[in-house]
Amino acid sequence: MEKPAHYLEASILVVDDERCYTDELAGLLGPLCRVAVAHSGEQALGRAASDPSPNLILLDWRMPGMSGLEVCRELKRTPRTALIPIIFLTDDQDWESENLGFAAGGVDYLRKPLSPAVVTANLHNYLALINQRQGLEQLVEARTQQIADLHEEALQHAKELDRRVAQRTEQLELVNKELESFCYSVSHDLRAPLRAINGFSRALLDQAQDQLDAQSVEYIQRILTSGRRMEELIQDLLELSRVTRSHFNTTAVDLSALVASVAERIAQDYQETRVELEIQANMLALGDARLLRIVVENLLSNAYKFTAHSPQPRVRFGCREERGDQVYFIQDNGAGFDEHYADKLFVPFQRLHHPSDYPGTGIGLATVQRVIRRHGGKIWGRSTGDQGAEFCFTLAPGRF
Ligand SMILES: Nc1ncnc2c1ncn2[C@@H]1O[C@H](COP(=O)(O)OP(=O)(O)OP(=O)(O)O)[C@@H](O)[C@H]1O
Ligand SMILES: [Mg+2]
Repeated sequence: MEKPAHYLEASILVVDDERCYTDELAGLLGPLCRVAVAHSGEQALGRAASDPSPNLILLDWRMPGMSGLEVCRELKRTPRTALIPIIFLTDDQDWESENLGFAAGGVDYLRKPLSPAVVTANLHNYLALINQRQGLEQLVEARTQQIADLHEEALQHAKELDRRVAQRTEQLELVNKELESFCYSVSHDLRAPLRAINGFSRALLDQAQDQLDAQSVEYIQRILTSGRRMEELIQDLLELSRVTRSHFNTTAVDLSALVASVAERIAQDYQETRVELEIQANMLALGDARLLRIVVENLLSNAYKFTAHSPQPRVRFGCREERGDQVYFIQDNGAGFDEHYADKLFVPFQRLHHPSDYPGTGIGLATVQRVIRRHGGKIWGRSTGDQGAEFCFTLAPGRF
């Protein structure tokens, strides 16, 4: 019989104490596949455990010493040989023994004397099955490997992304720090010449006012006003860079008490306005108390400033929960702002109102935003035109 092309390099172990049977089977099967022979149960166990293991075992039922049944049980007990199909060779017609053989894990019986046609037909069937099983196993193995490779690739990709994000963050932090210290030293260094300009202008005015004409005096006064304005701007810039450079000290902060104490001081500047202030009780926050004071000071002073022209100014400071976040808010019924320009609110020196209506530098909210960011939170502003404004902020999630 021709060996079919799809057969793998199959090997069969033939076990029989009678040489006539092993010789007959070796002769019959040899042209189809590799054949190994054992003449006792003990020898069979040794051959079955060899590497590579046989793909099929033809096992004599009746042998002196270890019987075929005992060999079969032992092979099935051992993980390495448990899956090898076993066909018993028997001259018995005993159903009970056959049942025992099947129960022990045997897959079939071949009767002696052996019929070559039956043996080769059986062999073809089993080799085809084994071939299919091996093909499936290889497929599963290949797919498993593919999945493992993809998984590994995804892991590497994620690691690479993490590394890049960390690198970019580090670069950004560095650039930010450089910018901060640049801003700090420029502002700091500008102060000395400015002090000289202001000081000498004042001296000039004091000493030479009588000799100067009215226009020259006005010019010097303008220099002084602009100098003072510039001093304020520099002071604000320094304050802004201090906010990000200063040490951060986290404590539990009683926001309600903080708002009340800041409001008391601000209210002194707005005595004629009579703002109606409502503060929610027991508002707590985790953060840097000194920095949070800067937040409250700026937000409250804005609320007071922009309600100054309202007939009945009202300001409310409270907190509520929004999508699992604790959101702190300050509302007023003042001038409000044009929401189209809301993205400018937190940009340094950007103002949405004219200085003659509402004075200011435009640095307060930029400072507030930096403080909030240092706390890991967010800040945003809303306005319904002249109905007033609401500013909301969060601090790091999961706190209080
Ligand atoms: N409560 C508010 N109502 C209406 N507009 C506001 C309010 N708060 C802030 N704004 C708008 O946002 C701009 C920026 O606010 P920010 O506090 O930064 O500056 P400022 O108050 O003008 O000056 P500074 O705070 O530096 O003295 C303000 O000029 C104003 O146009
Ligand atoms: Mg302000």
